[in-house]
Amino acid sequence: MGDAEPAAADRNRWNERYAARRPSFDPHPLVASAVAAGLPGGPVLELAGGRSGSALALAAEGRAVTVVDVSDVALAQLRDEAVRRGLGPRVDCVCADAARLLAGGAHAGRWALVLATRFWDEPAFAAAASAVAPGGLLAWEALRQDEAPARRYRIRHGGLSARLPAGFTVLAEWATDPTTRLLARAPG
Ligand SMILES: C[S@@+](CC[C@H](N)C(=O)[O-])C[C@H]1O[C@@H](n2cnc3c(N)ncnc32)[C@H](O)[C@@H]1O
Repeated sequence: MGDAEPAAADRNRWNERYAARRPSFDPHPLVASAVAAGLPGGPVLELAGGRSGSALALAAEGRAVTVVDVSDVALAQLRDEAVRRGLGPRVDCVCADAARLLAGGAHAGRWALVLATRFWDEPAFAAAASAVAPGGLLAWEALRQDEAPARRYRIRHGGLSARLPAGFTVLAEWATDPTTRLLARAPG
């Protein structure tokens, strides 16, 4: 597991939650949407994945998946489950702040799918969009902001597509209770 200076307060808060609750390892529905839309070959990057059932499902389909999260507890649980399922070599866990890891463009244009669910961080979203390979997909879900005042970690429905760089095609944007979801394709 890599280690890149995760923000201590977030890490501690999330570590406590993950230590206290049993994982389900269910994949997120955005994974099925992304696969149905068509993915080019290549690896998958999941930001703020926690103990991601999505990563396990994609690895089971043969994808190399990198999961980034600030919680080392979540990543240890994910790693154990990946090994238990024989998927260890395809699931790379990186303990890091998502935006910091992508800063500087080191990951630009590399990933067939960049996925984030139940996560909002504006710099991470911008960096994630530039990390998508040509013709690849950005799949993102964040908690929805419905009323003023603005709340941290939330965004209005429509706010994800509004922040896409030029050239992306919006394949779908849904409002669910209580989230907003986006599936978009990078220019190919
Ligand atoms: C609501 S959970 C969502 C987890 C998972 N994506 C899901 O849908 O179940 C938010 C996740 O974001 C992680 N996180 C919070 N801030 C982060 C950051 N700056 N960089 C990377 N991960 C972060 C937390 O550790 C936690 O796993």
